[in-house]
Amino acid sequence: MEFSVYDPGEIDEIRDLFIRTFTDSESEAEGTMVGNLAYELMNTTDNNDLFVFVARDHHQHHGAQIAGCIIFSRLTFDSGIDAFLLSPVAVSSDYQGKGTGQALINFGLSILKDNGTQLVFTYGDPNYYSRTGFAPVSEAVIRAPLPLSHPEGWLGQALISKTIEPMNGKPQCVEAMNKPEIW
Ligand SMILES: CC(C)(COP(=O)(O)OP(=O)(O)OC[C@H]1O[C@@H](n2cnc3c(N)ncnc32)[C@H](O)[C@@H]1OP(=O)(O)O)[C@@H](O)C(=O)NCCC(=O)NCCS
Repeated sequence: MEFSVYDPGEIDEIRDLFIRTFTDSESEAEGTMVGNLAYELMNTTDNNDLFVFVARDHHQHHGAQIAGCIIFSRLTFDSGIDAFLLSPVAVSSDYQGKGTGQALINFGLSILKDNGTQLVFTYGDPNYYSRTGFAPVSEAVIRAPLPLSHPEGWLGQALISKTIEPMNGKPQCVEAMNKPEIW
């Protein structure tokens, strides 16, 4: 697998990857929802507030298909700390269970760290995301930007310091993530 920053010319292919992957794993409605979320994130978010990374199968010679994609968007805290939110994440069904998801997340985290990002959060399965350094975060320590339907899925990690220090106030997510139904 080859990991890289996305090219804006790949937005449609990336949307299709999210639609396909979440349709296979959840439902057609979920596929459409996550595909539209990814599309809107890539089309409406300022460049400074977005990182998109893709995994390509380099054994496939004809236009190496995108096998996985992860999107990070900025979380803005009053304190000014540099923070990002990882969501959504997809590895195409035919490539799942081979370490691609974890390797792609680690690739993204190392680039964010080099870029000075201090905190990264995500909202998902603690058992999966703990494999790449995420741990549950209490909302008494760091609040989520919107009300959570699964508070146990609020996860985070510090990339530079050793621990996440408590912060007052609620961070703000980018416009595309600012939808109650995805939290
Ligand atoms: C979740 C997902 C990104 C994982 O990517 P992947 O490349 O298949 O994962 P990896 O190969 O890096 O890791 C596989 C391991 O994680 C485990 N795993 C995979 N999905 C998991 C999940 N949702 N919860 C807990 N563990 C999970 C596997 O059992 C496997 O464990 P093993 O190594 O002990 O066999 C991918 O399966 C996917 O896109 N699924 C559908 C969409 C989705 O759920 N996205 C994440 C939510 S935003």
